[in-house]
Amino acid sequence: MSTSFHHSRGRFIAFEGGEGAGKSTQVRTIVSRLRDRGLEVVQTREPGGSPGAEALRNLLVTGDAGRWSPMSELLMMYAARSDHLEKIIRPALDRGAWVVCDRFADSSRAYQGAGGGVGPYFIEAVDAAVVADTQPDLVVVMDMPVEAGLKRAASRGDTENRFESKGAAFHERLRDGFLRRAAAVPGRYRVIDADRTIEAIAADIWTALAEAFPELSHGG
Ligand code: TMP
Repeated sequence: MSTSFHHSRGRFIAFEGGEGAGKSTQVRTIVSRLRDRGLEVVQTREPGGSPGAEALRNLLVTGDAGRWSPMSELLMMYAARSDHLEKIIRPALDRGAWVVCDRFADSSRAYQGAGGGVGPYFIEAVDAAVVADTQPDLVVVMDMPVEAGLKRAASRGDTENRFESKGAAFHERLRDGFLRRAAAVPGRYRVIDADRTIEAIAADIWTALAEAFPELSHGG
């Protein structure tokens, strides 16, 4: 578990949202903007980000929708997250790097909790044990209508489509879950309308970062 104080470590930013919201594109843009400032940035993702977690990812995101129950998913997501935190995220934050993660624990709250029906008290108990004080400093929630997102995700035609295949009602519940979470913890969350041009979204995300991290507004 990380024992460093918040202000003496790096910065931890998570990108969240439903299917096809364009997170990966925006993550790449933000990472290169931060690197242009001379910052050390670790770009990573969940489920995955470490070799062990990537192996679990393959089990989680492929195959039939019913391959795992939401409870089994939750435990595997947090097993992957635990490894990712130990091997990649905490060491990076401890040496002062910025960590930009494509999905983190709010995807478990949304997909396994709001979408899948795993109880919030259980999720928070697991989160408190696994993530503990390594909570993101900023969570960017990329929000867009479910239908448009699923359409965009389907057009990728990859095999990592297990969650896409869970049906529209599931995706409506998890969208709602992200929005309720952001409203309940407003300080660390920014909801971005992701149903716009890549450039407009990127501009809003940079503004959100500059507000959350005043050190970015100095120079450059
Ligand atoms: P990706 O397509 O954004 O890479 O994410 C992989 C899938 O995993 C996506 O459908 C969301 C899902 N997921 C969960 O259900 N729970 C989690 O905790 C995480 C991190 C992802």
